[in-house]
Amino acid sequence: MPQKLKGKTRKASAARTVKKEPVGAENRLISIRIPENVIEELRKVAGQKGDAGYQQLIKSYISKGLVEENPEGMFDADRQPSVLDETLEKIGVPVAAIRKQERDNVEKLAESKVIAEDIRNLARNLKPFHKAFAGKTFLITGAFGFLGRYMVHLLKHLNEEVLKTPARALLLDNFVTGYQQQVISDKNLSFHRHDVIKPFETDEEIDYIIHAAGIASPVYYTKYPIETMDVGTIGTRNMLELAYKKRVKSFIFMSSSEVYGDPDPKCVPTPETYHGNVSITGPRSCYDESKRFGETMSLAFWRVYNVPVKIIRPFNVYGPGIRPDDFRVLPNFIEHALRKEPLPIHGHGRNTRSFCYINDEIEAIFRLLFSEENGESFNVGTPGPEVSVRDLALMVAKAMPHAVEVVNIDPPHAVYATSDPKRRCPDISKLIARTGFKPRYSLAEGLTRTIRWFCGE
Ligand SMILES: NC(=O)c1ccc[n+]([C@@H]2O[C@H](COP(=O)([O-])OP(=O)(O)OC[C@H]3O[C@@H](n4cnc5c(N)ncnc54)[C@H](O)[C@@H]3O)[C@@H](O)[C@H]2O)c1
Repeated sequence: MPQKLKGKTRKASAARTVKKEPVGAENRLISIRIPENVIEELRKVAGQKGDAGYQQLIKSYISKGLVEENPEGMFDADRQPSVLDETLEKIGVPVAAIRKQERDNVEKLAESKVIAEDIRNLARNLKPFHKAFAGKTFLITGAFGFLGRYMVHLLKHLNEEVLKTPARALLLDNFVTGYQQQVISDKNLSFHRHDVIKPFETDEEIDYIIHAAGIASPVYYTKYPIETMDVGTIGTRNMLELAYKKRVKSFIFMSSSEVYGDPDPKCVPTPETYHGNVSITGPRSCYDESKRFGETMSLAFWRVYNVPVKIIRPFNVYGPGIRPDDFRVLPNFIEHALRKEPLPIHGHGRNTRSFCYINDEIEAIFRLLFSEENGESFNVGTPGPEVSVRDLALMVAKAMPHAVEVVNIDPPHAVYATSDPKRRCPDISKLIARTGFKPRYSLAEGLTRTIRWFCGE
């Protein structure tokens, strides 16, 4: 059982996207992204409550031409924050203070004691590969997501503490769900705000590509199904073409355990040879099918062009740095528990998952990256214990210094109501046999570390 913890809740720099269409004669998509606390201000200024209130206000800005449309699609405010900031300043929103708070949140990610310990452990566990990092150039997509940021922290740590010849990295993200740009003090790591559904041009030589961009949380991928499919398909193709052009030494495609859909109980723990039981039309299909297509595309580039591709299928990764507003089950429980609110179990809570601590996931990613296991798919996760969602909620509740209730609620979303896989547990014998990797973190230890991070450590 995880230890009981004290402390205050880490504040999320939550963001909500307001998408409106249309204005004018054409049916154009207008989208702006607004931090949650700004929305609160908007509500106050407008003197109205709820979504309808602020959407109406936003609509009035659009009609006055105060908010610019984004002809390229979504996330206008992210691409042109000054336009939105100016607009908000005009209505008295304390933009500078809010932006500072966002930056502080991001810096806290870099300063976290728990993450720093994790990174030191990771660097130690990857010692046999230190030479493979030295002097090499990595390109990481989705670099400001949950897994991407750990990779960035690791490269920075290796450069500062371990490598004589530093590693270089090109870090790509469009911030559809990632945190805002992190302060990167390492001159060897360069950040590029880039949507991978467009080709990425660079004169740099690239040794390794890790294509981790994706929209991984069910709530977000049902909200942005087209972007989800684009990043898994067009984005994957763009990265594979770049890999071919640059003659990279290795390419990782971050697929998902969702390629198995709702597996036949006879195939749990699920081996890589299981073909899956996936709906092509259900609420999860945009994610599941894009990852399946991405795998097929990756293997085609291996077979036709010899691009040295490895495919990773992660199973429920968790740990420090996971977005508190990500809506995935574990951060959702921890957030509720720290706010002393009942932990909401969607439905009966008997569905099971086996959770993988982030350090284990990242170690396996780099072991595979530096391996010769080309043209192969690998489950990466922790094969046990398989925990029911209800038992997980009870574990989180027990770890709290105060009493927390666990309640069953109707699933709030079709993605949970009709298509939540009943079991998810990997068979990782292939990973162990080919790379020698074994998970190092128990659920109790990982959960304690995660809660410590949520408490601000
Ligand atoms: N974390 C898990 O448990 C898990 C499980 C299965 C699969 N995966 C896969 O692993 C990868 C990393 O997962 P994560 O948990 O870090 O996800 P995440 O959502 O935290 O991060 C993904 C990052 O990709 C970025 N992104 C999305 N679309 C993009 C685009 N078109 N161009 C550029 N950047 C884009 C997002 O802004 C975000 O920063 C994803 O591809 C995900 O599908 C993760």
